[in-house]
Amino acid sequence: MLPFTDWILEKLALEKTLFRTMAVSSLGLLLLALLFRSLTDAFGMCHRFYVNCQRLRCFPEPPRRNWLLGHLNLARSTEEGLQDAAQLTAQYGRICVWWFGPWVPILRLFHPETIGPVLRESAAVAPKDKLFYGFLKPWLGDGLLLSGGKKWGRHRRMLTPAFHFDILKPYMKFFNQSTDIMHVKPDFSDSKDIFCRDFLPCLLLTSRLIMCSRKSSDYIAAILELSNLVVLRQHALIHHFDWLYYLSTNGRRFRRACDTVHRFTANVIQERRRAHSRLGDDAWLKSKQGKTVDFIDVLLLAKDEEGRHLSDADIAAEADTFMFEGHDTTASGLSWVLYNLARHPNYQDQCREEIQNLLRGRETEEIEWEDLSQMPFTTMCIKESLRLHPPVTAISRRCTEDVKLPDGKIIPKGNICLVSIFGTHHNPAVWPEPEVYNPHRFEPKALQNQSPLAFVPFSAGPRNCIGQNFAMSELKVALALTLLRFVVRLDESQAVRRLPALILRAENGLWLQVEPVRTQQ
Ligand code: HEM
Repeated sequence: MLPFTDWILEKLALEKTLFRTMAVSSLGLLLLALLFRSLTDAFGMCHRFYVNCQRLRCFPEPPRRNWLLGHLNLARSTEEGLQDAAQLTAQYGRICVWWFGPWVPILRLFHPETIGPVLRESAAVAPKDKLFYGFLKPWLGDGLLLSGGKKWGRHRRMLTPAFHFDILKPYMKFFNQSTDIMHVKPDFSDSKDIFCRDFLPCLLLTSRLIMCSRKSSDYIAAILELSNLVVLRQHALIHHFDWLYYLSTNGRRFRRACDTVHRFTANVIQERRRAHSRLGDDAWLKSKQGKTVDFIDVLLLAKDEEGRHLSDADIAAEADTFMFEGHDTTASGLSWVLYNLARHPNYQDQCREEIQNLLRGRETEEIEWEDLSQMPFTTMCIKESLRLHPPVTAISRRCTEDVKLPDGKIIPKGNICLVSIFGTHHNPAVWPEPEVYNPHRFEPKALQNQSPLAFVPFSAGPRNCIGQNFAMSELKVALALTLLRFVVRLDESQAVRRLPALILRAENGLWLQVEPVRTQQ
């Protein structure tokens, strides 16, 4: 080290003293250590990458665009992109590897046998992957959708009762009322075309049930904006870097909308907490008897095994998560089932007949809780629509342990697994003639030989959709009342192009024509 120390001191024109010699030597040693560490890290990374590539070789890989881009840009969020996904599924059957640039492999899974082992893994072994979910974090924080580990487990246990049938039952009157509101909107009643891409009532309904709040138009506008901005960000690679994104116009809009959402939720929680502490939990519950308890109440009252409540920050994250997960998904489901029934008037008539028979002789046109299990054909039509047009087309995981597939192949730990709900639902090996809308696929007899993982619009396993019963009840009420009152037809002049964004939409909306049922008779 000494000649090197002398050389440095000479270059710096410093006189040689014991202290300076020691200082320069230590610095030199530190730099050497850092260099050595970086080199071993780099070597380790290259070795791990090499080993991973070797392990992934057992899975088929479609031709890459080139070595640098891999399959980037081949996955398009357009109608053509969905057609490619269906073709890929038909060609590769169960699984294939894609490359996100030269370094990041992504395993695309589209068969019950490959999605099952990943979805059934515990939440600790199959956490959400940050590449796909990270952009939602500043908005949704550590809510159920994004959190992991012990926190997720504790919250999931605490929130499951919020979706119990006893809690959902009183919501039936809101589902009915919101559908009534939707029907008296001019678009419905004057028999013109309706633009039913966004069923705002679904969103208003969700906000009402989650926060019992009616003065929420800024909040709703902000969450619609956030959903759009997240999709725009996913498509602009340059905006994947936080510091660049937050300097951009969209980044600033995202921050502003996040602030609006967080301020609103915090205010609702504070107001409600004050009311709870004024009365005490028991008196508060008593005062609510005969009225609907919303999710904020449920969240405020929820206790874990040790009797601890959720913090305000936790409640806010969960409320924002429910709003995000609960509004667009259900609106998309409802839009597509109306579209599918407009394309198949025979099935539409069959549903209408079923609902007319169910409500015959009643004084009010209201769907009751017990009715939900009495409309089997309508339910089959909804399910077939969720198969053909799943609102959430894909979800992803990054497993922390190797996952063994039934054929013995291993998904090596650390790789991103893109579970394609769309692919599984469109896989000809799972659903023959997958593009055909055929509700009879969901007849109990036909399902006997089908894997339970062939139909996963709400995902499956420990991290499945906590709100699926809520969503199915809402869909059934909205669809039943709509078909009872209106005939829905396709507007042939408007081509429909699917648009897989955060949820499955249609590029220029879904244009349907509605006509009151009475004028038909
Ligand atoms: C048709 C309507 C709906 C569909 C298709 C749907 C679909 C899904 C899917 C596929 C997941 C899994 C996401 C993932 O693993 O990354 C999920 C999770 C979730 N959904 Fe839904 N959802 C719907 C409605 C709702 C509603 C109405 C709510 C609440 C009011 C809700 C709340 C949630 C929550 C909190 C999660 C995260 C659960 C967890 O990780 O523990 N969803 N949903």
